Amino acid sequence: MQYSKKVMEEFMNPKNIGELKNPDGVGKVGNPTCGDIMQVHIKVKDNKIEDIKFKTFGCAAAIATSSMVTQLAMGKTLEEADNITYENLAESLKGLPPIKMHCSSMATKALKKAIIDYKTKSGGKNNGK
Ligand code: FES
Repeated sequence: MQYSKKVMEEFMNPKNIGELKNPDGVGKVGNPTCGDIMQVHIKVKDNKIEDIKFKTFGCAAAIATSSMVTQLAMGKTLEEADNITYENLAESLKGLPPIKMHCSSMATKALKKAIIDYKTKSGGKNNGK
């Protein structure tokens, strides 16, 4: 398995690991085939992702893509964050082996779920915090 240098950097030194206290949105995804699990917490202010953290139990690509998706989403509007695709994410990591593209897809799904969770909880309104 050939990982890019960028994937290895993120895997060895992931950013935004952990959980947020009282998150505004939580997204959790699991893949029954590989057994990996990802969780994303977000804090939202003025329609922007003010803070974001992840916890991932998974392969090197799962850790690297989770770390990278939090960095891409930080400070973005909810719409911009929701528009991050698994292809964008893989590109930011200078590519992923084809069998690892599902790791990238899981990371964007976890982020999208956190955004949906926030919107559901806030009733679609900006919470004005
Ligand atoms: Fe399943 Fe990486 S092998 S998330």
